[in-house]
Amino acid sequence: MELITDIEENSESKTREYTFTQADFERVRKLIYKHAGISLSTGKQNMVYSRLARRLRATGFDNFDEYLDYLERENPEEWEAFTNALTTNLTAFFREQHHFPILEKHIVQRKNQNKIQLWCSASSTGEEPYSIAMAMIQAFKSFTPPVHILATDLDTDVLAKAQMGIYPQEKLEKISKEKLKQFFLRGKGSHAGSARVRPELRNMITFRQLNLLDEKWLIRGPFDAIFCRNVMIYFDKQTQYKILKKFVPLLASDGLLFAGHSESFQHANDLFKLREKTVYELAIR
Ligand SMILES: C[S@@+](CC[C@H](N)C(=O)[O-])C[C@H]1O[C@@H](n2cnc3c(N)ncnc32)[C@H](O)[C@@H]1O
Repeated sequence: MELITDIEENSESKTREYTFTQADFERVRKLIYKHAGISLSTGKQNMVYSRLARRLRATGFDNFDEYLDYLERENPEEWEAFTNALTTNLTAFFREQHHFPILEKHIVQRKNQNKIQLWCSASSTGEEPYSIAMAMIQAFKSFTPPVHILATDLDTDVLAKAQMGIYPQEKLEKISKEKLKQFFLRGKGSHAGSARVRPELRNMITFRQLNLLDEKWLIRGPFDAIFCRNVMIYFDKQTQYKILKKFVPLLASDGLLFAGHSESFQHANDLFKLREKTVYELAIR
């Protein structure tokens, strides 16, 4: 995804198939900010063009003005495609490795609890919730640990991929041989070369669409841990604060909030305090 983005950002505007004015770009920026909270920096113009040009081709419009008018005339299906096109879904198995032993330790201490509930709030194509599931299986030494993982994302395309749980070779390269053997099934036929997560992992997770920007989230806590990694970077501080405030009543009083490597919630230190590198706990328990 990063590589494609680079190519997209460096692509020459003179080779463009459609006219994309500064006003069109500003309109897109406002729409995606309002709908998904995503703050697109001014440098993203070429990326936005190349991602949305595909939507113009698919819908048959020959200019951005008409396409954006069509989008704004209450068109839920196109809103979904528009949003899916503009999200960045880079993820990896066991990304930010140091979080997993911390999670395991935290959960093992709660072993006597009937049910452990975890929320992965920007789950992308599934690598993150499946990594959490693997860590939980390891922690409980059982393929049916008393753990439920809610995995949500705004982008319905990535959720569909996550639900399939099939990954190509290059996505699996950083996973150890033991883990591959323990948690994946080798693809056959048209899936040769790829691997599918074992059904036990899949059974631990519920995938659902959820926009972190929505006023109301139809979910119920308390969660023993919330993963909100590498998504807050797309939001401004005000939006981040609103989301963090909504996490507070959903997190168990001694629960943990995991953030991405470049995310800091210092501006919300009345809500969350740093416990260790990119791991937060409630400021007031
Ligand atoms: C860069 S990925 C991070 C994935 C994963 N959490 C990780 O750290 O590897 C960001 C994800 O956030 C999702 N996202 C963006 N805006 C969102 C919103 N308003 N609500 C929920 N998810 C959102 C995107 O669709 C994307 O899958």
